[in-house]
Amino acid sequence: MQVTITINGEAVSRDIEPRQLLVHFIRETPELTGTHWGCDTSNCGACVVLMDGRPVKSCTTLAAMAEGHEVRTVEALEVDGELDPVQQGFHELHALQCGFCTPGMLMTSRALLDENPDPTDEEIRIAISGSICRCTGYKNIVAAVQWAARHEAATRQEV
Ligand code: FES
Ligand code: FES
Repeated sequence: MQVTITINGEAVSRDIEPRQLLVHFIRETPELTGTHWGCDTSNCGACVVLMDGRPVKSCTTLAAMAEGHEVRTVEALEVDGELDPVQQGFHELHALQCGFCTPGMLMTSRALLDENPDPTDEEIRIAISGSICRCTGYKNIVAAVQWAARHEAATRQEV
């Protein structure tokens, strides 16, 4: 079947098997391997991308279900060499070690801050509860999201 998905603003069309998962559709697109494929059972969250602004686990979403939707992957966070504040926060607060969970954590955090620019620590923990980090721990990840929220609030005040 022919499927067209808008990924990071570009329409990507491909002839696929109906069973193809969104994570594979994305990762088979040149230069879009930042979305990780981990557990394949909707548990780890490494594969999270945004579909129409909402986080989805691309390992349990059929590519065909994304037909006609806007998908945003981790590659779209950096714009013209400028890191997104959530990326910057993860860098500043040492919120990653191996980095395997990081694409999903970043996209989930981005979606949270888009919806709730001033989250509590508990709200951040609830938002990322669908993502598992095996090495960094969650303390620094929560602090990184708070860093991004403060940074974005300060930027809004300057404008
Ligand atoms: S690979 Fe999708 S949740 Fe683990
Ligand atoms: S940074 Fe290694 S799993 Fe999260």
